[in-house]
Amino acid sequence: MDKLALITGASAGIGLEIAKQLADRGYDIAGVGSGDRIHDLQAKLPGVNVTPIQADLRTEEGIEQVWSQVEALNRPLDVAVLNAGRSLGGAFLDTDLETEKEMIALNITSQVLLAKKVVRTMADQRDGRILITTSMSALTPTPYESIYGPTRAFMFSFAEGLREEMKEYGVTVTALLPGATATDFHQTAGMGNTMFGSNDWKNDPTLVAQRGVEALFAGKDHVIGGDAKTRRAAVVNKFLPERIKAARFAKDSKPTS
Ligand SMILES: NC(=O)c1ccc[n+]([C@@H]2O[C@H](COP(=O)([O-])OP(=O)(O)OC[C@H]3O[C@@H](n4cnc5c(N)ncnc54)[C@H](OP(=O)(O)O)[C@@H]3O)[C@@H](O)[C@H]2O)c1
Repeated sequence: MDKLALITGASAGIGLEIAKQLADRGYDIAGVGSGDRIHDLQAKLPGVNVTPIQADLRTEEGIEQVWSQVEALNRPLDVAVLNAGRSLGGAFLDTDLETEKEMIALNITSQVLLAKKVVRTMADQRDGRILITTSMSALTPTPYESIYGPTRAFMFSFAEGLREEMKEYGVTVTALLPGATATDFHQTAGMGNTMFGSNDWKNDPTLVAQRGVEALFAGKDHVIGGDAKTRRAAVVNKFLPERIKAARFAKDSKPTS
């Protein structure tokens, strides 16, 4: 039987590209999204078996729904990609607190709840690979996306720590840190009136996914998702003071109107 990969946020963007690349490697896909379009995934991946799972990961019921459908497949789980995430742009003074609470529920709480189930399953199997999509935003303060960046920093730190714990069980954990990527992400975040509004200058999601999938199978701890310029920016970030990085980030993220 082919191997099985669970991917959250598989209906679009980086998650969809990761799903395509795992399908190319022969993995059957259990793909999660909150809207109807997740049901189109089988047509996009005709060579493998797809289980579309429509669930809202912001809720505990959504997580339970995902997991019960994975368990119902009654197969080993070889790969888990915790990728679904959103942002919200704007000054913290003005942004909607409920939307920020929902973002924390999706970007942090849902990942932790799902990771708990995934690692217990993979530890029992003594085998498995986990890819966690965080962001280059984990490496800098993110003014005008002031809650989003910290959610990614949480997941980066979580991934690096969990990796160490899972070593003795034969399970690898890899963090993917994409730079700005040409998906619907910034439009969904209401950032059309910032430098992030245009997709013209951003990384190709296919390249970002490729970097993540290759790092996953190489068992690396983390990888920057993007082109050479993006990777150079990640190196520079290591040496700049936080206040300088905050000012540089604000130039791109501050709404123009
Ligand atoms: N694009 C970038 O510039 C960028 C940069 C760095 C890091 N990232 C990270 O990359 C990851 C993917 O982002 P992307 O650019 O691919 O965004 P995207 O194109 O907007 O895709 C987001 C995915 O998450 C799913 N999703 C959103 N809310 C959900 C919910 N409540 N329950 C279940 N699924 C949900 C979406 O499915 P439905 O809409 O069908 O629900 C979609 O499949 C995120 O974790 C993000 O932080 C992105």
